[in-house]
Amino acid sequence: MPPNVALLEARALHARYGEIEALHGINLDVAQGSIVALLGANGSGKTTTLRALTGATRRSGSILFDKREVIGHAPEDVARLGIAHVPEGRGTLSTLSVWENLAMGAYTLTDARRTRARYEKLVAYFPWLAERREQPAGLLSGGEQQMLAIARALMMEPRLILLDEPSLGLAPIIVSRIFEILRTINRDDGVTILIAEQNAAAALALADQAYVLETGRIALSGPSHDLAGNEQIRKSYLGY
Ligand SMILES: Nc1ncnc2c1ncn2[C@@H]1O[C@H](COP(=O)(O)OP(=O)(O)O)[C@@H](O)[C@H]1O
Ligand SMILES: [Mg+2]
Repeated sequence: MPPNVALLEARALHARYGEIEALHGINLDVAQGSIVALLGANGSGKTTTLRALTGATRRSGSILFDKREVIGHAPEDVARLGIAHVPEGRGTLSTLSVWENLAMGAYTLTDARRTRARYEKLVAYFPWLAERREQPAGLLSGGEQQMLAIARALMMEPRLILLDEPSLGLAPIIVSRIFEILRTINRDDGVTILIAEQNAAAALALADQAYVLETGRIALSGPSHDLAGNEQIRKSYLGY
């Protein structure tokens, strides 16, 4: 894989809720095959950024995905292009079974054999999915629901996966497990990852590059290793 080929390039990205502008023109680059962390305090604009990228929130500016402009495309088209979104609060449907949730994620796959192959691949990452495939998703633990949400997003064979605070409300040991799986998916399947997190320490340990948002603007960006290694930055921007 050639290094530093941009898969996603956002330029002067603005987003608003009615009269209120929440993103004030951000620039964001995600290299193909990389893991990028989007950090920042509660309310800084992480969720809005991810939603603006998929078109779930009104946005303007430019978003090139694999050199193609996606602004003007509906969220379903963006999904078809290969961007999967694991939303804040997971978005799994609690009354549907584990399998039904996964099948929903495969809606961009038209071929049943391919869907089946995809399912087998995900069971290798999350073996418990097979054991619990008939159970309602609502009976799963918080960590399992997060894993199901990730597995569901991976069903459509995305090139880029957007994750919105996957660690939220989970015990550190569960977060480590989930991040380890994300690392494996990135390394072995070449899935590029953009992960929004308030857990800066864990996200920086996972990511190659990081952006820090402050009230809808990029306050800081750079290689994760540099940010994590700078005590001043850690204290002023990352809260640890
Ligand atoms: N649905 C909404 N309607 C109006 N304002 C919103 C909405 N969602 C978020 N905001 C505002 O946009 C800003 C960014 O929020 P958000 O993207 O959710 O931040 P984060 O994910 O970093 O916590 C905040 O000021 C928040 O109050
Ligand atoms: Mg959020």
